[in-house]
Amino acid sequence: MALPRTLGILLAVLVAAAIAVPPASAAVVSSIDLGSEWLKVAAVHLAPGRVPIAVAINEMSKRKSPALAALADGNRLIGEEAAGITARHPSKVFARARDLLAKPFPYVQSVAQSLFLPYDLVPDARGAAAVRADDGQVYSFEEIVAMVLHYAAGLADAHVGAPVRDAVVTVPPYFGQAERRAVTQAAQLAGINVLALVNEHAGAALQYGIDKDFSNESRHVIFYDMGSGSTYAALVYFSAYNTKQFGKTVSVNQFQVKDVRWNPKLGGLEMEMRLVNYFADQFNKQLGDGVDIRQSPKAMAKLKKQVKRTKEILSANTAAPISVESLYDDVDFRSTITREKFEELCEDLWEQALNPVKEVLTHSGMKIDDIYAVELIGGATRVPKLQAKLQEFLGRRELDRHLDADEAIVLGASLHAANLSDGIKLNRKLGMIDGSTYAFVLEIDGPDYVKDESIDQVLVPRMKKMPIKMFRSIRHTKDFDVSLNYDKAYELPPGVSSHRFAEYSVSGLADASEKAEAVIEITEWVEVPKKVLTLESNTTNQNSSEAGVTNSTADTKENLSSSSDTNSSTTIDESNAQETVTEKVLKKRTFRVPLKVIEKTAGAGTILSKELYSEAKSRLEALNKKDAERRKTAELKNNLESYIYSMKEKLEESADILTVSTEQERESFTEKLSEVQDWLYMDGEDAQANEFQERLDQLKAIGDPILFRLSELKARPAACENARLYLAELEKIVRNWETNKPWLPKKRVDEVVSEAEKVKRWLEEKETLQKSTPIYSPPAFTSDEVYQKVLDLQDQVSSVNRIPKPKPKIEKKPAKEEPASNEKTASSESTSNGTEHTEGSQESKASEEDHSASKTNDSESKSHDEL
Ligand SMILES: *[C@@H]1O[C@H](CO)[C@@H](O)[C@H](O)[C@H]1NC(C)=O
Ligand SMILES: *[C@@H]1O[C@H](CO)[C@@H](O)[C@H](O)[C@H]1NC(C)=O
Ligand SMILES: *[C@@H]1O[C@H](CO)[C@@H](O)[C@H](O)[C@H]1NC(C)=O
Ligand SMILES: *[C@@H]1O[C@H](CO)[C@@H](O)[C@H](O)[C@H]1NC(C)=O
Ligand SMILES: *[C@@H]1O[C@H](CO)[C@@H](O)[C@H](O)[C@H]1NC(C)=O
Ligand SMILES: *[C@@H]1O[C@H](CO)[C@@H](O)[C@H](O)[C@H]1NC(C)=O
Ligand SMILES: *[C@@H]1O[C@H](CO)[C@@H](O)[C@H](O)[C@H]1NC(C)=O
Ligand SMILES: *[C@@H]1O[C@H](CO)[C@@H](O)[C@H](O)[C@H]1NC(C)=O
Ligand SMILES: *[C@@H]1O[C@H](CO)[C@@H](O)[C@H](O)[C@H]1NC(C)=O
Repeated sequence: MALPRTLGILLAVLVAAAIAVPPASAAVVSSIDLGSEWLKVAAVHLAPGRVPIAVAINEMSKRKSPALAALADGNRLIGEEAAGITARHPSKVFARARDLLAKPFPYVQSVAQSLFLPYDLVPDARGAAAVRADDGQVYSFEEIVAMVLHYAAGLADAHVGAPVRDAVVTVPPYFGQAERRAVTQAAQLAGINVLALVNEHAGAALQYGIDKDFSNESRHVIFYDMGSGSTYAALVYFSAYNTKQFGKTVSVNQFQVKDVRWNPKLGGLEMEMRLVNYFADQFNKQLGDGVDIRQSPKAMAKLKKQVKRTKEILSANTAAPISVESLYDDVDFRSTITREKFEELCEDLWEQALNPVKEVLTHSGMKIDDIYAVELIGGATRVPKLQAKLQEFLGRRELDRHLDADEAIVLGASLHAANLSDGIKLNRKLGMIDGSTYAFVLEIDGPDYVKDESIDQVLVPRMKKMPIKMFRSIRHTKDFDVSLNYDKAYELPPGVSSHRFAEYSVSGLADASEKAEAVIEITEWVEVPKKVLTLESNTTNQNSSEAGVTNSTADTKENLSSSSDTNSSTTIDESNAQETVTEKVLKKRTFRVPLKVIEKTAGAGTILSKELYSEAKSRLEALNKKDAERRKTAELKNNLESYIYSMKEKLEESADILTVSTEQERESFTEKLSEVQDWLYMDGEDAQANEFQERLDQLKAIGDPILFRLSELKARPAACENARLYLAELEKIVRNWETNKPWLPKKRVDEVVSEAEKVKRWLEEKETLQKSTPIYSPPAFTSDEVYQKVLDLQDQVSSVNRIPKPKPKIEKKPAKEEPASNEKTASSESTSNGTEHTEGSQESKASEEDHSASKTNDSESKSHDEL
């Protein structure tokens, strides 16, 4: 075959800011703002009587939860529970896991050291860091983050009252590709279907713009976010454009993120660390002897906790105390600090804090006067000195604080989640254009590969609108490697030392090139990479040997999609240029030759391998199960405790209980209660769930009969009264039958009368018997027995009452039946509502049934046509 020997290769790299998984179908989605210190959850839940979008509160009714997971004392604790044991187990309560994802081991080590986080860190096979729990088990940071996210998902579930699978998760702008992949994988481990990752600033911009109209006035807004661990400023342009919709011109609001600049180390935590070190020095001086409490993890954990409070107090006061009981070696620490001193300790930070704003302005060539507003978000923007500094720099009297500093991001992200969901339609619309926060460079390398200068190596420029598809054509005949790298012109993500973040080897090309000119398409989602690679060939011969190749293409696709972690359906669609049949003499046809693509990405930023992932998954599931058991045990223990308390109280305070129990009975019950109570506080501390249940059952075996007699004290006479009323009423019913329903068989009516007589006698007998039975003994009869007798009697009455009047001999037109029966039903319903025991109601019931029967069966209805 005289086919060209050169190979045209089309490389398509698809870069997405959002992960395009199939849209959520249910009308329930959530958003998770996973911060380095706090997490917030919002749920979009469309149900009558509910706020459509709301922040989900945690078990302590708080709107934000500590982003912590702890593995200590054989328990796994998350959120508030984990925060509760930080001072006791500083090395087993894992904080800031989000920021330690996908980072090289030495970096994680240095961060942990500087923040006095005494974790037992171990390097893993990727070169990332993992933590060892007290059971010796090593957990990756993906697993720790998965635990936190699982807790977050649980908050959404609890809010909605049903499992919420789909969520949008926010990430800070400085997260690189490895960090984004790691968060996504952690969310998958947590059982969350990630609809998309959203940059934090985009979430804030959404929340800002959703209720505004920009059709008359576009504006530039800077979002300034100083959180616990980082600070950024994002310049966002809000505007509106006109578009045609159903022939009408409508204005559509949108925003575009123009630039975002950050300092990934500056935040409230840095200020706290300045205070921690200041107080540590003070305490060391006080202690003397060259002691350094920085060496004591527990002391540092206690100090850090108190410093957080001190810093908060300083935001509203000019001085704040600090007091730590037995900080170290049973020595208490007490001191005070003025706001002035605090500001001095952080002197260099205030200038640094302005840099993100300055940079955003410089790079966009804008002046402060061009900016409509500088909106502050993030907890650390509450610090007065920071506000003063910003005010001074911006030359404004008032700072813009129109957004909720804590919740703007999570609420905005939930709007995006709603937008991605099939089942939810937003009334207000706001287009979102966010850009890549890093620039990506493509590198191709292989034997005989000559770099083509005409190919633009910068694949995705910084702030390029995402998601986007990028194509690059290269000419090559041999196998080669493709790698994706951060552009060297910009800073790398914090802690990351290698520019390369993804690498693939492409093979099978040499083989393909012998057969045909080929088109290769590599499709790559940078956020969550997946590999679909096809080689399309146009050949002049329809029935060439390549037929077999076509077949194997399908196989390979299967192989590829099953080995990749996301669906590749979208990308397959993109290359359906096959079967192009032209009018030329020689028919042309496109077919695909499979190329093998293997991900070769190495280093700390690699996601967990399939094996490690499934190991982690089953470990987490086991922990979740254990957690559920722990909660169950706590619940049973609590049940036992409350039972003991309430019974003791009743025994002491209820006068009636004296009448329904003997003294001896009460004594032995009290004794038993005390015995179990003692057990509860001694051996009961670590008892199993069934032990609590057993003891509760034992106590109830004694207590329940007493309680029963107590409740029967009132219930029994009430039941008897009710029965007597009904028996009296029944007499009226029977008389009514005799006059109004003469067709009722006498035998059946007599049965009812005799049954009523029997119930009456039974009741009299039992009441007499009960009178001679002491009330502390088992009762002669119970209220339940009485109600049952009456119910049986009522059933019997109903069935007699229902007996229809015999069919008259005259034939009637069916047309008249319906209205007649309708009328009767309606009238009887309106006259006799609810009062079950009157004859009217019995009739109404009967006619209702008749009516429904007449609807379903014509033949039957004929017998009721006179009703
Ligand atoms: C926009 O301006 C037009 C004309 O000045 C006015 O009629 C309209 O109400 C304005 N719309 C808004 C949302 O302010
Ligand atoms: C909502 O979806 C529309 C259509 O896909 C898109 O154009 C818009 O940018 C989305 N907006 C948000 C806030 O996600
Ligand atoms: C195949 O050839 C046809 C006709 O020459 C052309 O239009 C088409 O783009 C080619 N397909 C590919 C995938 O190159
Ligand atoms: C292709 O094969 C079909 C049957 O397999 C045959 O009818 C047709 O003539 C062949 N076309 C060419 C161009 O070989
Ligand atoms: C291609 O696959 C089809 C069905 O899967 C099969 O019938 C056909 O024989 C295959 N052709 C070759 C060349 O393997
Ligand atoms: C999948 O790929 C492997 C090698 O990569 C190969 O051995 C196997 O046959 C392929 N399976 C299918 C269904 O193509
Ligand atoms: C892939 O698609 C299938 C069916 O289309 C769906 O059930 C599955 O959840 C998808 N998986 C992912 C990871 O998107
Ligand atoms: C029947 O009684 C209930 C309350 O007893 C009341 O809510 C309802 O409106 C009544 N219906 C009719 C038809 O009177
Ligand atoms: C309705 O009548 C048909 C016979 O005409 C009978 O098979 C069916 O069970 C009747 N349905 C009801 C609800 O009475």
